[in-house]
Amino acid sequence: MSSKIAYSRQGDIAVLTAQNPPVNALSQAVRQGLLDGVERAEAEDGVKAILIVGAGRAFFAGADIKEFGKPPLEPHLPWLVGRIEASPLVVVASMHGVSLGGGLEVAMGCHYRVAQPSARVGLPEVHLGIIPGAGGTQRLPRLTGADAALEIATTGRHVGAAEALKLGIVDAIEEGDPTEIGVAYTEKLLAEGAVPRPICEMHAPAAIDWSAAHAAVEARARGQLSPGFVVEAVQASAEHSFEEGMKAERAIFRKAMDTDQRKGLIHAFFSERAVSTLPELKGVEPRPMSQIGVIGGGTMGAGIATAALLSGFSVTMLEMSPEAGEAARGRIESNLSGALKRGKISAEQHAAIVEKALQVVTDYNALKDADLLIEAVFEEMEIKKKVFAQLDAVCKPGAVLASNTSYLDINEIASVTSRPEDVIGLHFFSPAHVMKLLEVVVADKTAIDVVATGFDLGKRLRKISVRAGVCDGFIGNRILSTYRTAADHMILDGASPYEIDKALEDFGFAMGPFAVADLAGLDIGYAVRKRKRAEGLQPNERDSHYADKLVEHGHKGQKTGKGYYDYSAGMKARVPNPDVLPLIKAERVEQDISSREFTDQEIVRRYMAAMVNEAAKVVGEGIARRPLDVDMTLLFGYGFPRYRGGPLKWADIVGLDGLLADINRYAEDDPHFWQPAPLLEQLVAEGKTFDDLNQS
Ligand code: CAA
Repeated sequence: MSSKIAYSRQGDIAVLTAQNPPVNALSQAVRQGLLDGVERAEAEDGVKAILIVGAGRAFFAGADIKEFGKPPLEPHLPWLVGRIEASPLVVVASMHGVSLGGGLEVAMGCHYRVAQPSARVGLPEVHLGIIPGAGGTQRLPRLTGADAALEIATTGRHVGAAEALKLGIVDAIEEGDPTEIGVAYTEKLLAEGAVPRPICEMHAPAAIDWSAAHAAVEARARGQLSPGFVVEAVQASAEHSFEEGMKAERAIFRKAMDTDQRKGLIHAFFSERAVSTLPELKGVEPRPMSQIGVIGGGTMGAGIATAALLSGFSVTMLEMSPEAGEAARGRIESNLSGALKRGKISAEQHAAIVEKALQVVTDYNALKDADLLIEAVFEEMEIKKKVFAQLDAVCKPGAVLASNTSYLDINEIASVTSRPEDVIGLHFFSPAHVMKLLEVVVADKTAIDVVATGFDLGKRLRKISVRAGVCDGFIGNRILSTYRTAADHMILDGASPYEIDKALEDFGFAMGPFAVADLAGLDIGYAVRKRKRAEGLQPNERDSHYADKLVEHGHKGQKTGKGYYDYSAGMKARVPNPDVLPLIKAERVEQDISSREFTDQEIVRRYMAAMVNEAAKVVGEGIARRPLDVDMTLLFGYGFPRYRGGPLKWADIVGLDGLLADINRYAEDDPHFWQPAPLLEQLVAEGKTFDDLNQS
């Protein structure tokens, strides 16, 4: 008997208790233990029923994702679930915590299901690029009908116990210890003369409009394949016998397993969890934090304050004047009303936050008790230095002083204080109460417990925190600036902003770079270009002015109604602004460039090559510790398609040698821009991948 499954008897019930912490993933040892337990119960005298239950936090969180991509080991889960279902004994699942993927499939292999009120069930495989592979697509529709099964398995959402009861996924809800409620429920079933009730013998679900279902799912999937695979498998449950449906599910599961999207999504799953685990923070206590001061209540500061308030912090917002303070309060309250409308907080919580947790002030002295101060003022070094000097004068010893700068040098900011060890960068993304990414920027003198405090804040705000070193733009904006430049070069050489946006949105980006620029405001890029020109361009560095002219004509993007696109018919109805192409053409004439055509494939290749090359420099220089840190930055802050795993996972999948060869080829025309990253050259020379660096 596997040590992962404990076997015990409660009268005529054999209890199989899974003990594979933390979440009872269905590893080979767990599957073997379940099989052994079922066989032992069937062979033992006096056993009338089997109860399957999980120890710890969950029933089963699903197949063991770490086993994916390796040769499958017996007993295979689909077979095991069938074996449980075929038992002549009554088999009951007592579900608590989560029953996800293979976990729900095991439960559906049981003949009856009882759940705790807080239990949640779901088929989240779609988020891993696969489909339920142990009968989930065949058994769930038999319980709920095809529509509900499709909705659950194509979204991967967690279904609460009450809804699961309504849908027929569980038979009863009972409060109490999972083993106790399971035993009581099984005893009741036996007393009532219950017999095995295999779902595989139930009627197939009624047919629905399958083409409409396919079309609806594809419209939402943005190039992700797995939701469409789920529809195919559920359709098979309605159109074939159970056995044939299972064969269809297996074939589709295998097809999904073989996709690059599966590799990308599983990389994202583990990287999302690994990204904030830093060896140097092991055992380091973060500083205590309950009061947060935010300096500057513009869009960013108000968003940061909102995020902190929604996570239970009290916030003091400092503005320069009572009028500016009121405007900041207005922005925060509007964000909070949005959270209330979306059901993120209750009316009582909303009232308590607005009345008690938020204070708006104009005097720095009001920040003296704050544990953490986040500066979000105008992006100019001299202004930031003034703020930090004032913070240094009033803040209590040990307070963490953070800057939300998106590219300025944190070391220089820290140098104006008497306590550079307490200074750190906390780079939020706008809107800060919505976007998941937080770059924790560690300066030369930042104390380790201040770093730990940055990560602790990220965790408490439910963000994905990535450690970054100091450089212009840190991880994300530095890489963004490079791939944006690659897009600008393609425009000079003949592509249009609309072709580029379309090619990249087809690749899976939430928005193409020019639509993003319109959203952020074209004046931002304009200011950066002016700054770079003032610092001095390299002799062979390419430059262009058509975008400056757009801004000078008053077209600053969405906020003025026009940028690369014209938004007069609404923000979503993106119509090319007719002023743009003539400006680009004029620039090509001025620079004596004869334009050429770009295919979508070439656009993606050049854009991604620029992104990967800069990312490799960022990792090589230690600005990002691991390739996965870059991947998570782009995924959570820049709309990179999750199903591609991140730029460096994408690069591993398409092959580093081909990518380097392309970069060298592009460098023949523009050696200034296309300088291959030493780390990329090294990996190619050694036959290694970026992922190899994640493992070390
Ligand atoms: N396999 C392997 N490890 C898993 C796992 C799984 N299915 N689910 C969670 N873990 C690990 C996590 O990697 C994490 O490990 P570390 O502590 O080493 O980082 C640990 O368990 C705890 O997980 P979380 O940090 O995510 O804890 P949480 O409380 O925030 O969330 C959870 C728990 C809701 C179960 C979440 O982990 C989750 O959603 N897991 C994935 C569930 C899933 O996708 N199941 C389907 C698997 S595929 C399948 O079952 C295919 C099939 O049909 C046969």
